[in-house]
Amino acid sequence: MMRDHLLLTSCQKRRIFVHTFGCQMNEYDSLRLVRTLLLRGYVTTTKPSEADVIFINTCSVRAKAEQKLYSLLGRLKRLKDQRPNVVLIVGGCVAQQLKGAIVERFPFVDIVVGTRGISELPDRIERVFELRSREVFFPDEETSLGLNHLDVASTNWSAEVVEFVTIMQGCDNFCSYCIVPHVRGRERSRPSHEIIEEIRMLSAKGAKEIVLLGQNVNSYGKNLSPPVRFSELIERIASETDIIRLRFTTSHPKDLTEDLMACFRDISILCPHLHLPFQAGSDRILSMMNRGYTQLDYIKKVERIRSYRPDIALTADVMVGFPTEEEKDFRETLKLIEIVEFDGLFSFKYSDRPFTVASSMGPKVDERTKTRRLAELQKLQKDITFRKNRAEEGTIRTVLVEGESRLGSGQLTGRTPHNRIVNFEGPKELIGKEVAVRITEGYAHSLKGELMMENKL
Ligand code: 5AD
Ligand code: SF4
Repeated sequence: MMRDHLLLTSCQKRRIFVHTFGCQMNEYDSLRLVRTLLLRGYVTTTKPSEADVIFINTCSVRAKAEQKLYSLLGRLKRLKDQRPNVVLIVGGCVAQQLKGAIVERFPFVDIVVGTRGISELPDRIERVFELRSREVFFPDEETSLGLNHLDVASTNWSAEVVEFVTIMQGCDNFCSYCIVPHVRGRERSRPSHEIIEEIRMLSAKGAKEIVLLGQNVNSYGKNLSPPVRFSELIERIASETDIIRLRFTTSHPKDLTEDLMACFRDISILCPHLHLPFQAGSDRILSMMNRGYTQLDYIKKVERIRSYRPDIALTADVMVGFPTEEEKDFRETLKLIEIVEFDGLFSFKYSDRPFTVASSMGPKVDERTKTRRLAELQKLQKDITFRKNRAEEGTIRTVLVEGESRLGSGQLTGRTPHNRIVNFEGPKELIGKEVAVRITEGYAHSLKGELMMENKL
């Protein structure tokens, strides 16, 4: 679920350029900042060379994203030399991890903000414009996690067809390879009423689908008083808001409860797709990862969820090359992939991260072996995904149209309830609507379709 993302537009007012590394939580945080600044009269730009404010939202989950940040900062230094008044901000997980060391290493950075500082950021930016101060801050708690403070009546922005809502922050699981609990802190859930209000507001602004975000959404509400179950939150969203599709990510297999699984059978707006990272197939490695389940436990969970919703699409995260991983451990990972037949996988090479227990485990797996294992795993999954996409040919799917396709020439793009991307020809007026599409071709990563004549255009 990782990708880089740029936010856009331009004009004469103060212009902000945002580059987001990493996960959807980061994308949502960037969007929160941008929307607040839009209300304060800023505009967005796609060109860092034209920006007055540059916000780099960083990710430290894997070493690669951190390295990408450093090369980006190298390029931005030249820009800052030419235009010293630009306010350059580094936020997100790397900022939280390195704290003040960022300004020592990159003295041209004006603001360093931790993972819980987004709501405070707009005021800090104003201070830099006024006083040319340097702001370095890492709040323990975020005053507001959502968009609630935004003026619903404001015409300065409209919602996307698919919107994200953070329902909880942090993680208490401490998987041995993972930096998240160290940089995002302990688990904290937002009150349900706040989430419902935000979804209503987004729906009033035109959103049709909501994706609930959290590092481990299944443990939502445990720390609220009184505690709220995640399945209760889903039920409330279904009955108290107008959105037509609901998804959530990410889930931990050990917390996937029966009541949550039943939601996939009982709640019609909940899309039949579950992202359920398994990380590894070998019981020995899973135990070293501190994941709290075995391969068999995982398979049983999959069988159970399929008993509630037989057609559910399953995706997951997996990594190769965890310290001490041997060929036979890796074969167990491949075996699990073959048994479950995932609809898609996000696969990574393990990398040591600061603060984590796994970083001091050994022996490490060498880079060549990791590369070979990753390629073999990806080839296996590619064939499964392709086979599944081919099996879609001839079916008729309800597609929520998200926008114009990058393919251009009158093509629209959207997703099936099972989260498959479909491109098809159609008028722009369909954006934001659910339409029936006949699938004509299945590719490696997407589907091609044609609009059914029965749709009311
Ligand atoms: N090395 C490689 N991949 C990692 N992930 C988390 N930590 C690491 C690490 N140290 C992967 C996991 C997680 C996803 C978001 O990133 O698969 O689910
Ligand atoms: Fe990291 Fe594990 Fe928490 Fe996911 S559940 S954020 S992998 S510690």
